[in-house]
Amino acid sequence: MNPHPIAVFDSGLGGLTVLHALRARLPQEDFFYFADTRFLPYGDRPEAFLKERGVLIAEALVRHGVKALVIACNTATATAAEAIRAATALPIVALEPGVKPAAALTRSGVIGVLATTRTLQSERFQRLVGNHAQHSKVVTQACPGLAEAIENSGPDSPAVAALLDAFVAPLAAAGADVVVLGCTHYPWVAEAIARRMPPGVALLDTGEPVARQLDRLLGAAGLLGGGHGHLTVATSGAPAKVSATVDRLWGQHLPVEHWEP
Ligand code: DGL
Repeated sequence: MNPHPIAVFDSGLGGLTVLHALRARLPQEDFFYFADTRFLPYGDRPEAFLKERGVLIAEALVRHGVKALVIACNTATATAAEAIRAATALPIVALEPGVKPAAALTRSGVIGVLATTRTLQSERFQRLVGNHAQHSKVVTQACPGLAEAIENSGPDSPAVAALLDAFVAPLAAAGADVVVLGCTHYPWVAEAIARRMPPGVALLDTGEPVARQLDRLLGAAGLLGGGHGHLTVATSGAPAKVSATVDRLWGQHLPVEHWEP
């Protein structure tokens, strides 16, 4: 048993889609969710910046007293996971686009991947495709602007609809029968993506596998239990603005505090 919280971090509020799955699987744990809103979007930032920022956040979370870290951001994983692992001794779960399960699932042999520019350009993503999807055709689509539009305008906004029209059409045209949601913001618009694909197309996100992995990791390290199901949400941005978006996405009011790593 270990009463310390588990840290979950993202560039913004996309990681709440992962947090949802974590809390469903581990309701007794306490969570500290950090949205690095001031630097959203990560997807358009240079790799060196994200590496440095990721390590700085992880080291600050260690000082904050967390018992484990979930990197609930594909972009941060792609650019900084190795550096974060090298810099801290924390148990870490890093998520990456579900290319491996997609390769097992596709019947058409065509997998669509929606992710940030930085994730798709990363060496780690190239390795993932090379290792797990060499027998499939992988059609990638970068989605600049989508994560910010989901947060700033809302998942049902005309701005998001226009971006999805542009980003999803190439996957449908290529005959993808599986779409990997390779950014944790995109599950907020999963239905809108599904509506733009032919019926029966599978959408894959990584919330549940990440929750299983965290459960296994904490169990193996003897760190499970000791919490009370508390959730703290913190941001490097303006709490009042972030709070309004959290309430809209989470569907209930959650207090948001400022935290500076
Ligand atoms: N949620 C982040 C991810 O999973 C990206 C959003 C951003 O560009 O900041 O990749």
